[in-house]
Amino acid sequence: MKKLQDKILSDGKVLSESVLKVDSFLNHQIDPPLMQAIGEEFASRFKNAGITKILTLESSGIAPAMMTGLVLGVPAVFARKRKSLTLVDHMYTASVYSFTKNETNDISVSKDFIQQNDVVLVMDDFLANGQAALGLLDIVEQSEAKLAGIGIVIEKGFQPGGSLLRKQGIRVETLANIASLENGQVTFLEEADT
Ligand code: G4P
Ligand code: NA
Ligand code: NA
Repeated sequence: MKKLQDKILSDGKVLSESVLKVDSFLNHQIDPPLMQAIGEEFASRFKNAGITKILTLESSGIAPAMMTGLVLGVPAVFARKRKSLTLVDHMYTASVYSFTKNETNDISVSKDFIQQNDVVLVMDDFLANGQAALGLLDIVEQSEAKLAGIGIVIEKGFQPGGSLLRKQGIRVETLANIASLENGQVTFLEEADT
């Protein structure tokens, strides 16, 4: 997606060979028109998939998930990272290991909001090692809903998450796929390669 790639090049900051900071439009401050364009792009890619629900993870997945839900006309549900104090037996839970933080966190979703007859689009802001996506897939599996695919705003194609998921036959759509952050430069994979 050209508009997103241009935004990453103009406003993204390469912090290291593996970390891209996008606080000014995605992870802290949010750019609503860009988020709307992102929602329209995901909605167009998944328009024939019969999606009834979007599932993401708080906090940075919420903005793109909500805009995609707006265009598709379906609700967006976000998994919570902190355990709810009530109704624990009424929640799907999964463990997510973070390589960056070297810690495992539980995520949870109420059974009220994802059900067996749903067709779910899993979304997130970043795809790096794929652990967050795997946790969300675990929840979809527990619900016995159908998985339509995964929509990712920024994939770091040089990290293993994307191939891990695609190897399982899952449809993964990413709007900007980064081939490298070497020498302080963002290089994208061509759309055809993703
Ligand atoms: P993984 O799910 O791919 O295994 O991710 P990892 O543990 O490596 O990442 C932990 C957090 O860091 C996630 O956000 C993820 O979206 C984010 N992240 C990973 N790589 C990058 C990067 O290059 N740049 C930025 N800006 N973020 C990255 P989170 O902790 O769930 O936070 P949030 O959703 O509340 O923002
Ligand atoms: Na995230
Ligand atoms: Na994040």
